[in-house]
Amino acid sequence: MAMTPLDSLLTCLRFPSVSTDSAHAEDVRACAQWLAGFLRDSGLNTTVHPTPGHPIVVARNTHRPGRPTVLLYGHYDVQPADPLDLWLTPPFEPRIENGIIFARGATDNKGQLMAHANGLRQTMAADGDLPVNLIALFEGEEEIGSPNLGPFLAAHRHDLACDVVAISDTGMVAAGVPTFTYGLRGITCCEVELTGPALDLHSGIFGGSVANPATELARLIAQLHDAHGRIMIDGFYDQVRPLASWEREAWSTLPLNDQAILKLTGSPALFGEAGYSSVERTWARPTAEVNGLGGGYQGEGSKTVLPSRAFAKFSFRLVPDQNPAVLLPQIEAWLQARTPATVTLTVRSGHSGQPYAMDPHSRHGQAAQAALRTTFDGREPALIREGGSIPIVQSFKDILGADTLLLGLALPDCQAHAPNENFPIANFEAGQRLNRHLLQELARV
Ligand code: BES
Ligand code: ZN
Repeated sequence: MAMTPLDSLLTCLRFPSVSTDSAHAEDVRACAQWLAGFLRDSGLNTTVHPTPGHPIVVARNTHRPGRPTVLLYGHYDVQPADPLDLWLTPPFEPRIENGIIFARGATDNKGQLMAHANGLRQTMAADGDLPVNLIALFEGEEEIGSPNLGPFLAAHRHDLACDVVAISDTGMVAAGVPTFTYGLRGITCCEVELTGPALDLHSGIFGGSVANPATELARLIAQLHDAHGRIMIDGFYDQVRPLASWEREAWSTLPLNDQAILKLTGSPALFGEAGYSSVERTWARPTAEVNGLGGGYQGEGSKTVLPSRAFAKFSFRLVPDQNPAVLLPQIEAWLQARTPATVTLTVRSGHSGQPYAMDPHSRHGQAAQAALRTTFDGREPALIREGGSIPIVQSFKDILGADTLLLGLALPDCQAHAPNENFPIANFEAGQRLNRHLLQELARV
């Protein structure tokens, strides 16, 4: 019996394709091979390209002159499933309850990717071809900052030349509300270590006579923001593009308001840079976050120790026109300048991605919105930016010269990156329709 679209998604979800964990490298590779088989069986000419990291899957129909070329991007890698004990059922054994699929990757990004892959398969089966020249490009390293995809784009820039890129890997402002995203935040990550004494010390014998690295790290972190949520690093906001007044106006009427966000987060109260609403803060303002913090004794009970080191993992979300390459040295200099002589600071930089913004009223943007309207029963799409990052998007612009259309299908409560990630079957089906309508609309641009 032929595999149904839902079966294909469930099969894809069973691969624990966790890109950050080298123990899963073989699972990531197996997922790429399976995906390539699916695309090949759909009638697309498909290649799995090895990289120094995880493979890139490229599939295309027969290209004909006179038709636009559309590059469809997605990622088949997922975030780690931890903390495992908070999952109601195992993350890589998908479960369906009340029409909702629960699994790691259900929304981010396998559900959305497989919706498009099934849409392509259906059109190929019905018409023997697609209405455009298509390049499907699916990578296995998005969740670790796409370190090998930029070089791949540069090396294959002629083969990958296209008029526009389309991605479903962003959100909808509410269930049933078609959403077109025209901007993403960028990101830059770093790990900071403070070392003090050469070894962990008895806090009775030495405490009071040398500085505690954990205390000094806490002091540094506390200086990052003022009491109103503004980041205190010198020059941090210099390149920030102010919000346009039409954006503030349009966003103020969205169902994703402060009240809805308070409920989604389960926080006692909202907090952020003064003078901005929650969606303005997350979509159009930069942040400085501590993602992890450690040092000293973490076990049961107490241990009277003065730790020799403490560390913090930071990420900074960036907005147009900030640039990670400019900011990272500024951040490091700011931290160094505030580090007392009693400890030593080391900064290790991690991955980075550029922020992105396009004109939602461009011809391609309008075509994407028309496809969303048709897919969602004629409802008018919300025009938004997003706070998350898809690091390769600005590289599509820089290397291939193409804008990216972001047509997300993730719901606000999808629990991406968290336990019990989920995706409604209704969104999976909408994604299959969206693929067909999008290619039809783009064929006419
Ligand atoms: N799908 C997300 C990006 C996203 C999330 C866009 C929410 C819009 C709203 C993507 O898979 C992701 O999680 N990206 C990472 C990139 C990072 C690891 C470089 C992110 O944003 O943390
Ligand atoms: Zn993600």
